[in-house]
Amino acid sequence: MLKLAVLVSGRGSNMLRLATAIDELQLAARITTVIANVDCDGITHAKARGIDSYVIRRRDHDSRAAHEAALAACIDQSGADIVCLAGYMAILGADFVNRYQGRMINIHPSLLPAYKGLDTHQRAIDDGAATHGATVHLVTPELDAGPTIAQARLEIEPADDATSLAGRVLQLEHQLYPFVVASLANGHLTLQDNTPRWADPNSAMAAMPDHMRQILEPALILAAADAGAS
Ligand code: GRF
Repeated sequence: MLKLAVLVSGRGSNMLRLATAIDELQLAARITTVIANVDCDGITHAKARGIDSYVIRRRDHDSRAAHEAALAACIDQSGADIVCLAGYMAILGADFVNRYQGRMINIHPSLLPAYKGLDTHQRAIDDGAATHGATVHLVTPELDAGPTIAQARLEIEPADDATSLAGRVLQLEHQLYPFVVASLANGHLTLQDNTPRWADPNSAMAAMPDHMRQILEPALILAAADAGAS
């Protein structure tokens, strides 16, 4: 059983997708806790699903280190194997990140290494970029710079504005993050030594239901596919 702690700060749609995909795909996985740093819809959604959830606020702690120690205690108490950042809007310190090295992952709304940080959709449009998308990556102390696990790509349409593009990317995110978690749960993907290895990408995709495969398969880029594929 793969146990996940999911960290959120906002609407929590990726967290919800992970929860629904775990049920739909009957994965050997469970969200053991959802933690936010602010009151947010993500916590409301988690509670509605009966998932243990907590708000651990920075302002209730004297320092970032104290805040992150409380966060780590909550994660560890939940028995989580993997920490999934899903719109957690705080920069995490190196000590915290290193504590979860190789088992903390994030979803970011761009094709990293392009557009690290915020406001990715508008920046891509302003640059006249042809493609855009989402990345799931391992978290390292440098922001949005950890090893890529998988990406989903789309073409920016002439009619796209930041809002429409964000919506289209989010639709990809909602397939990509569950795909990565499903692949971890069923052993198609490992993260040993802070290195993603796809043992059998075709089987990983074949394990997805049609409605996910139809959206994800044409968009998917597995950066590390050659590291473990035969
Ligand atoms: C997503 O776009 C994710 O890529 C980024 O923050 C957003 C979170 O959205 N890291 P939600 O809270 O999961 O709806």
